[in-house]
Amino acid sequence: MSKKLLEVKNVHTSFFSHLGEIQAVRGSSFTLNEGDVLGIVGESGSGKSVTAMSIMGLIENPGKIKEGQILFDGQDLAKKGQAELSDIRGNEISMIFQDPMTSLNPVYTIENQMTEVLRRHNKGMTKKQAVARAIEMLSLVGIPKPAERIKSYPHEFSGGMRQRVMIATALSCGPRLLIADEPTTALDVTIQAQILDLMNDLKERVNASIILITHDLGVIAEVCDHIVVMYGGTIMEKGTVDEIFYNPQNPYTVGLHQSVPKLTASGEKSRLVPIEGSPPDLMHPPKGCPFSPRCPHAMKVCLEKPVPTVQLSETHSSACWLFHEDAPKVGNYRKGGEILE
Ligand SMILES: Nc1ncnc2c1ncn2[C@@H]1O[C@H](COP(=O)(O)OP(=O)(O)OP(=O)(O)O)[C@@H](O)[C@H]1O
Ligand code: SF4
Ligand SMILES: [Mg+2]
Repeated sequence: MSKKLLEVKNVHTSFFSHLGEIQAVRGSSFTLNEGDVLGIVGESGSGKSVTAMSIMGLIENPGKIKEGQILFDGQDLAKKGQAELSDIRGNEISMIFQDPMTSLNPVYTIENQMTEVLRRHNKGMTKKQAVARAIEMLSLVGIPKPAERIKSYPHEFSGGMRQRVMIATALSCGPRLLIADEPTTALDVTIQAQILDLMNDLKERVNASIILITHDLGVIAEVCDHIVVMYGGTIMEKGTVDEIFYNPQNPYTVGLHQSVPKLTASGEKSRLVPIEGSPPDLMHPPKGCPFSPRCPHAMKVCLEKPVPTVQLSETHSSACWLFHEDAPKVGNYRKGGEILE
């Protein structure tokens, strides 16, 4: 059996303002095995980035991990101080963001920036060794003529190439976990596909586990082994890629699938069915299931009681009353906006 690298257990992360508490992540639990790629998918505001920032130890005041454990190789990151976390970041866990321009400094060359990161994390590494390693990493991520291109400034690269540079930088210290938060969202469709191909390729060649965050279910099928579906700060469903794509059980996951364009046999795009309504207010989340105001199957119990997570197979679970043995069995689905008894 694969070894567990990361275990997120019942994590609650909130932001506190004078208006109240924004409950951004509410009881998140999932596991990432060594060598696996885990996708976290959900609409904007569902808590994907806050989950990633919680793992990285980057939640800052007025934010706080209120509860839960983040076990990385058995050590609880939620209990570590900033000095230890900063040591882990870069050495053991690296992150790449949606827009590489925000992470790259426009006034320094790629060589400056990559060697600075490398030497900060590898005490005793000479400048020459750092440059050689940086060129090797640029070549690994498909930058042509890396020994020449390393002298360039960020603006001399296209968006896709800049994202490759970021991936090379993030991987240069040999992290055991790479978190990629929407790495392709800012790119056009063809370049997106190339970056995803690269991630797929790297997964085989680099000894790192990957968390890939996206709001687009369409992009992760080929790259991920397991998928976590988030909504309103809650994990609605998790399972293997096959379970989430071919046997989705949670009404929110089904809605997400229907809102992704698919090509039909004739090559045309199928009609999109957007999920009606808007995501919950995380300062005043619904008492019961977060999806209940929008769910076509909502029952009375969904509005009143916190949603139970039901295990459907060893790897597959759904947070939904529909699967619970105590749930009313028939006839009480939402009809015309009203919840029937
Ligand atoms: N620093 C912060 N201060 C206050 N609220 C925050 C902060 N960061 C995130 N939030 C809130 O936490 C919730 C979850 O945000 P998060 O960024 O995790 O969403 P997301 O799923 O990554 O969305 P997107 O797809 O738009 O990136 C949102 O309601 C957001 O407004
Ligand atoms: S718990 Fe109820 S409201 Fe929530 S997804 Fe399931 S059926 Fe829909
Ligand atoms: Mg985000």
